[in-house]
Amino acid sequence: MCGIVAYLGNKQAYPILLEGLKRLEYRGYDSAGVALMNGELSIMKKQGKVADLEKHVSSLGHDLNHTMGMAHTRWATHGIPNDINAHPHSSGDGNLAIIHNGIIENYAPIKKALVDRGHIFSSDTDTEVLAHFIQEIKEKENLSLEEAVRRALNKVIGAYAIVVIDKDEPNKIVGARMSSPLVLGIGDDEYFLASDASPIIKYTNKVIYLEDGDVISITREGNYQIRSLDNTVQNPKVSELDLKIDEIEKGGYPHYMLKEIFQQPTTIAESMGGRINSHEGWAVLGGMKQNINRIAQSERIILTACGTSWHAALIAEYLFEDLARIPTEVEYASEFRYRNPIISQDDFIIALSQSGETADTLAAVKLAKEKGALIYGIVNAIGSSIARETDCGSYIHAGPEIGVASTKAFTSQVTVLALMALYLGKVRGILQESYFRQLLASLETVPSKVARILAKDDKIKYIAGEIRNASNALYLGRGYNFPVALEGALKLKEISYIHAEGYPGAEMKHGPIALIDMYMPVIVIATNKSAYEKIVSNIQEVKARKGVVIAIVTEGDEIIKDLADYIIEIPEIEEPFTPLLSVIPLQLLAYHIALMRGCNVDQPRNLAKSVTVE
Ligand code: G6P
Repeated sequence: MCGIVAYLGNKQAYPILLEGLKRLEYRGYDSAGVALMNGELSIMKKQGKVADLEKHVSSLGHDLNHTMGMAHTRWATHGIPNDINAHPHSSGDGNLAIIHNGIIENYAPIKKALVDRGHIFSSDTDTEVLAHFIQEIKEKENLSLEEAVRRALNKVIGAYAIVVIDKDEPNKIVGARMSSPLVLGIGDDEYFLASDASPIIKYTNKVIYLEDGDVISITREGNYQIRSLDNTVQNPKVSELDLKIDEIEKGGYPHYMLKEIFQQPTTIAESMGGRINSHEGWAVLGGMKQNINRIAQSERIILTACGTSWHAALIAEYLFEDLARIPTEVEYASEFRYRNPIISQDDFIIALSQSGETADTLAAVKLAKEKGALIYGIVNAIGSSIARETDCGSYIHAGPEIGVASTKAFTSQVTVLALMALYLGKVRGILQESYFRQLLASLETVPSKVARILAKDDKIKYIAGEIRNASNALYLGRGYNFPVALEGALKLKEISYIHAEGYPGAEMKHGPIALIDMYMPVIVIATNKSAYEKIVSNIQEVKARKGVVIAIVTEGDEIIKDLADYIIEIPEIEEPFTPLLSVIPLQLLAYHIALMRGCNVDQPRNLAKSVTVE
């Protein structure tokens, strides 16, 4: 939530900051702003997207030749999205400016004390309070900017990544992080601070991922220093980014979401790369190898995640219990962390997160760690907080996912979870050699089968056109396809704003059937071999009430073809891996419907890609 970027160097800062904001816009997009320093501090901000800020700045006609500045794209927490609440915020004297991603939880008592001392605030934000607070400490105690920031942050409770600049020290940028990401980019005589590496990669691949409690000061003379909140000098390691600029561009597609859907044959193959070989008969994950005995003997697996990652975790419950026979539970991270869960040292905890920065998932990891469980991270973003906080783990290698609605990360997560289940099933002696090899061979066919489904895009687009005006939609699936029904419904509501619900097929009779009429599309995932007859009955029940049935079926299915209004065929595959195929038409369906309804598919209203606040 919220993207921040700052620059100090010899180049013109504004275009770098603006381009950086566009790359970070997936993190929030209700208002944006920029502060430029040239001895004088100039702040320009605007409600709306980064493009609105760009128009606003050019309409002002200001000189933009500054070589230092910072910028912010906002996802509102405290205060509605408007020009005043947009960042940067400044101190009472207007000398100091700050941008912030996170929430200052104790801002109210700090604000009250400041108001009592005569401070006047213009916005409703917690961030403006921090600006006044830092400035007051700095002035009262005659401190350097970094020292004032450090002292202020020692009194602050909450999550933050901040960048602060100050007219009194016009050649210095100070940043700090606690539970929200901040990356330092080190170029030739230039420095960057940003929420992720995407604004930086064009200029340098040398980065330092700041740790919680780090306060960094960067000066134009070319040095930077990082101290912890307790004032100890830190010596972090400089990492090399393994990211290419074309990975963060649309590559000829009209939207990131469509690009990411169509990348899936490749991204799923990348997730499997070097981890499976059906000819030699093995599936192994490096992250599990060193602890495999401990993991294989776990009494219970608990998966924790949010959003689409939680749906991937639900599929893992089926995979781990079916293929490895280990009792498995799935928890929303936000519930898990607050409900005093029973966690023992014999539990194996898996945290799933595309971004690796989701606040609740990160907090769940920290909680499980305190209780002594072994924690595994399944993460996409390299070097992210969850990747660093977990004991061991696997990257899913899906590459940057920029569309707010997750697609390729989901299929890569499920691929890695399937590999884990196969590995565990083999080590625990649950899977017979011949069945094990059959499953391996089947999993290896997923990329080419996904490509075959993608080739049906025109048909899916046609069906989307037929149901685009619906107000509600129901998604049904059984067994492995129940979580896919949830995911299909989530995709539709996220980007098209059609109310949609996912249900296990049998549960339809316990409520949703009351909603079915001729205006209600019911998307049924009917590829299962087990419970096939039951899902056919569900379809008949929908048709008896005049519902419109769109069925995802296995190629060659003749029975459902005669019952459903529309069918989308997907190739046959071993049942545990059907979610990897059955979700693809649902992603495309949501995409086309959203587009036909004039929605912004990459930046749906009110959402953000990375939920770094509670
Ligand atoms: C947000 C995103 C979703 C994502 C969820 C969890 O809601 O819009 O696409 O599934 O966060 O994010 P994570 O990065 O932890 O997978």
